[in-house]
Amino acid sequence: MPLLECSGLTKRWGAVTTVDDVSLTVEAGEVVALIGPNGAGKSTVFNLIAGAIKKTAGAVRFAGESVEHLSAYDLAQKGLSRTYQITCLFPQLTVLENVRLAVQARSPGRLRPVASKALVDKTEAAAMEWLARVRLADSAHRTAGQLSHGDQRLLEIATALALQPKLILLDEPTQGMSVEETRATVRLLKSLLEDAPIAVLLVEHDLEVVFGVADRIVVLDQGRKIADGKPEAVRNDPAVQRAYLGVEHA
Ligand SMILES: Nc1ncnc2c1ncn2[C@@H]1O[C@H](COP(=O)(O)OP(=O)(O)OP(=O)(O)O)[C@@H](O)[C@H]1O
Ligand SMILES: [Mg+2]
Repeated sequence: MPLLECSGLTKRWGAVTTVDDVSLTVEAGEVVALIGPNGAGKSTVFNLIAGAIKKTAGAVRFAGESVEHLSAYDLAQKGLSRTYQITCLFPQLTVLENVRLAVQARSPGRLRPVASKALVDKTEAAAMEWLARVRLADSAHRTAGQLSHGDQRLLEIATALALQPKLILLDEPTQGMSVEETRATVRLLKSLLEDAPIAVLLVEHDLEVVFGVADRIVVLDQGRKIADGKPEAVRNDPAVQRAYLGVEHA
């Protein structure tokens, strides 16, 4: 049984169909890249999976259960966390506080009105560990809004990972990063994934990133799935090449 199973996902806005009968799966521990030209429907698929927008048709199952009508909080409790194409942090809070909120969300003591000192310390130590893993420990006490764009994206990844997901949805984690930052992020992602058996569904424009990390690639074009397979097979697929060439010639 796949960890994530989307079948027949469809989204229409009035007469316009932006996601058209898309089925895809992600196995436990698998890294799947969702690629396609601008406007292909990638972010919409994420929003449908995460229940952020209402689907017109289709079904989403996670770990064998229907996850329709669940809030982002409940999804995170079940092991599905996400980042956004536009960075989504608490800019006034410190870097550490941003991660600590995520650690707390998965902590058994989260419902206690007053946490013990021991629990507070433990939560903070766990948050610091995540920051160290994305190499942001030195920035722990700055506010998130003060970080560079690239570091904010790393903080978002740390926050999503601190929820201890089984599956993480990453929408363009390297968007707006320099070539150097992008390469560093890829190295980081790979090392994080080696340590933990987390499945990833990744939207990414940078094909170097995609081919660097993906076990499998799903290609969308104009809302439809046009390819789904191993990186080499997808790279050589004429329909995929046409979709990308079409964009370059537009
Ligand atoms: N709220 C909305 N109402 C109407 N149409 C929308 C809405 N949101 C997205 N769309 C349309 O749906 C299509 C798919 O958009 P989506 O953002 O999913 O594409 P994408 O593949 O993520 O693109 P990009 O690579 O630019 O991020 C686009 O044509 C977009 O204009
Ligand atoms: Mg998008």
